[in-house]
Amino acid sequence: MVPVPYRVVGRARETADTVTLSLEPVDQPITTPAPGQFNMLYAFGVGEVPISISGIDAGHRVRHTVRAVGAVSQALCAAEAGAMVGVRGPFGTDWGVDSAAGGDVIVIAGGIGLAPLRPVVHELLHNRRQFRRVTVLVGARSPEEIVFRGEVASWQASARITVRTTVDYATAAWKGEVGVVPTLIERVTIDPEVTTVMICGPEVMLRFTAAEVLGRGVAAERVRVSMERNMQCGVGRCGHCQLGPVLVCLNGPVLPWSRVGPLVARREL
Ligand SMILES: Cc1cc2nc3c(=O)[nH]c(=O)nc-3n(C[C@H](O)[C@H](O)[C@H](O)COP(=O)(O)OP(=O)(O)OC[C@H]3O[C@@H](n4cnc5c(N)ncnc54)[C@H](O)[C@@H]3O)c2cc1C
Ligand code: FES
Repeated sequence: MVPVPYRVVGRARETADTVTLSLEPVDQPITTPAPGQFNMLYAFGVGEVPISISGIDAGHRVRHTVRAVGAVSQALCAAEAGAMVGVRGPFGTDWGVDSAAGGDVIVIAGGIGLAPLRPVVHELLHNRRQFRRVTVLVGARSPEEIVFRGEVASWQASARITVRTTVDYATAAWKGEVGVVPTLIERVTIDPEVTTVMICGPEVMLRFTAAEVLGRGVAAERVRVSMERNMQCGVGRCGHCQLGPVLVCLNGPVLPWSRVGPLVARREL
């Protein structure tokens, strides 16, 4: 439960309100995280929040991509190179990329939902031959709000995987699609028996996107989503992150839609 000190060694602005921090351990590193897991990041004197791991780099460095929405996330976004951040983790379940080997994979991200899926895309590219068709669908409100813009463009340019982007509000220079991310799914070839789908984004986007892929015949068990709930302990002790019988910090954040779907359909949860 004690945060380990990490130093900010890199800081990149992704969008107007989102920053990626590269963190390096001062002494002992945390255990190497798996794609999909999260850390509790402590902005000293302000507070601690769960943030997904958006990159796993050499030298025990980890990346976190943070959107400033309140006191703690604002303090993290304001951290400059050399600043100290407390890290507890890694916690939670991962995307289980290995278990999708031999089949097709569809990665679907809305907004900052691309952060926990970025290490998945890296793993898919690194082990490209182990997978059949790999498709990445990225949605954002506007072109300026696409996180990792340069990297998404390089995935697209490499042609090793299929990448489609869409925005709700286009600019004159925009060359991708216009519309919400579930509308991209109808353009994707889906072989339901061998396809694994990984989705992260706002809850409403998860619901519409999962409904669309289920409608194309993919079993709910093969659809994985990353859930967000307010968290305090991160280790299954306080109950803050409870979603019905599920403790999102412990049983999630990555869960099959077969488990999450019936829970998010119930208004009182
Ligand atoms: C497993 C997990 C992984 C996450 N990964 C990331 C990540 O990679 N990058 C990132 O920027 N954020 C991520 N979040 C969300 C992040 O934890 C919250 O934005 C943060 O806790 C807000 O704290 P705050 O003190 O800055 O704002 P607060 O003052 O606590 O909240 C400010 C506003 O944001 C809303 N809010 C708070 N928490 C959430 C939440 N979990 N989801 C939606 N709205 C919320 C509040 O209702 C309020 O309106 C993740 C959350 C979870 C549970
Ligand atoms: S955050 Fe405390 S039980 Fe999940």
